[in-house]
Amino acid sequence: MKSNIQPAKGKLGILIPGLGAVATTLIAGVEAVKKGISQPVGSLTQMGNIRLGKRTENRNPKIKEFVPIADLNDIVFGGWDVYSDNVYEAAMHAKVLEESLLNKVKDGLEVIVPMKAAFDQNYAKNLTATHVKTGTRYELAQQVMQDIKDFKAKNDCDRIVLIWCGSTEIYYETSAIHETVEAFEQALVDDDKLISPSMIYAYAALKMGIPYVNGAPNLTVDTPALVELAKRTNTPIAGKDFKTGQTLMKTILAPGLAARSLGVSGWFSTNILGNRDGLVLDDPDNFKTKEVSKLGVLEDILQPERNPELYGDLYHKIRINYYPPHGDNKESWDNIDIFGWLGYKMQIKINFLCRDSILAAPIALDLALFIDLAKRAEMSGIQEWLSFYLKSPQTAPGLPAENDIFKQLMKLQNTLRHMMGEDLITHLGLDYYQELVDTL
Ligand SMILES: NC(=O)c1ccc[n+]([C@@H]2O[C@H](COP(=O)([O-])OP(=O)(O)OC[C@H]3O[C@@H](n4cnc5c(N)ncnc54)[C@H](O)[C@@H]3O)[C@@H](O)[C@H]2O)c1
Repeated sequence: MKSNIQPAKGKLGILIPGLGAVATTLIAGVEAVKKGISQPVGSLTQMGNIRLGKRTENRNPKIKEFVPIADLNDIVFGGWDVYSDNVYEAAMHAKVLEESLLNKVKDGLEVIVPMKAAFDQNYAKNLTATHVKTGTRYELAQQVMQDIKDFKAKNDCDRIVLIWCGSTEIYYETSAIHETVEAFEQALVDDDKLISPSMIYAYAALKMGIPYVNGAPNLTVDTPALVELAKRTNTPIAGKDFKTGQTLMKTILAPGLAARSLGVSGWFSTNILGNRDGLVLDDPDNFKTKEVSKLGVLEDILQPERNPELYGDLYHKIRINYYPPHGDNKESWDNIDIFGWLGYKMQIKINFLCRDSILAAPIALDLALFIDLAKRAEMSGIQEWLSFYLKSPQTAPGLPAENDIFKQLMKLQNTLRHMMGEDLITHLGLDYYQELVDTL
């Protein structure tokens, strides 16, 4: 496959609908790394290694040296928001990074001014939008396409990717207009309210063959119409919802408990957060979208139907409460009721004082770089190998998601090896002992 990958030449434009806490932390972080002020901690593409060949070969290059991903110096950021604050102002408002750090990269942030958003108040009632496009949904999609073309020309970009870092939209399910590309396009013309704002950006991107990543739990490209459009235009897509904080911990811990055949009878998770994301999620309709995204992981990993003695009575509850004093510093508590040998009960308590956007920014960076790689490697449609980064991975219809983070990592690494024509690693390892026997 190696010979099919186009080189990462020229500039990569990363366009972001939603220049809020995650996006501004990403952009400021990349600027700080480029200036040598900080390290890109948490980013596999920048700091991770990958083993190649046998353990005895001792080949462990950095991922960024192994696969041809874009260099940070070749990235240009842009985006849209319902507020007109430039990225420096938005980052100050988000209060994730301290002022002294932001001032060191101010020049690079001030120049990024959001384009007007494609927005519908019904999808995020707690926002008071002041910087929005007007027109029917069809017209909005045309305007977004024009924005992309203008950005690409102005910044002399070779390639573009879109990554949604906008607010979580209200909960909605697919309906007839999401079933086929034709029905979807007719619904755009009809300005059908069942098309959410995120779908307008995604449609515009896919129509132009531009990769789309969904960092929120919104349905967006997880619909038959947009999956079909991605295939028709040979475009890779990935989603949904950045896997940070509590769900990250869940997908690290639950596989370990399942691996040891320990029972779980209850998992109560509660969070407080005070950023704008928390404000939007304070509306029950928006919370429902997040809840569905977060709930799936435990059942997928523990598989109660296959292990009823261990997980058949599992009670899983998730709460998110808006609490302004904590800002972006989300605090989460987990109470996990487990049982062991002969059914004896035990408890695990987790109190994670995390920083939401600090965990999300490197994920957004990796997803943008890898989806650009996928496009250059002529991979199109759903990129399940990127599920490592996602809370509610999009898969082919009828295919159960894999939520175990260790299996997700193996899938990601093997995909990279496959792309580069290296042997896949199964971790079987019998060959080391076979060789020893042969030489006796
Ligand atoms: N922070 C995390 O760790 C994390 C983890 C997983 C998922 N997410 C998701 O990522 C998204 C961004 O999170 P955040 O903390 O940056 O939130 P945020 O509220 O700080 O930023 C979201 C931004 O999107 C803008 N927006 C809303 N609708 C828009 C539209 N139609 N077009 C353009 N802009 C629009 C808002 O004005 C806001 O500035 C949310 O959906 C959140 O649920 C965040």
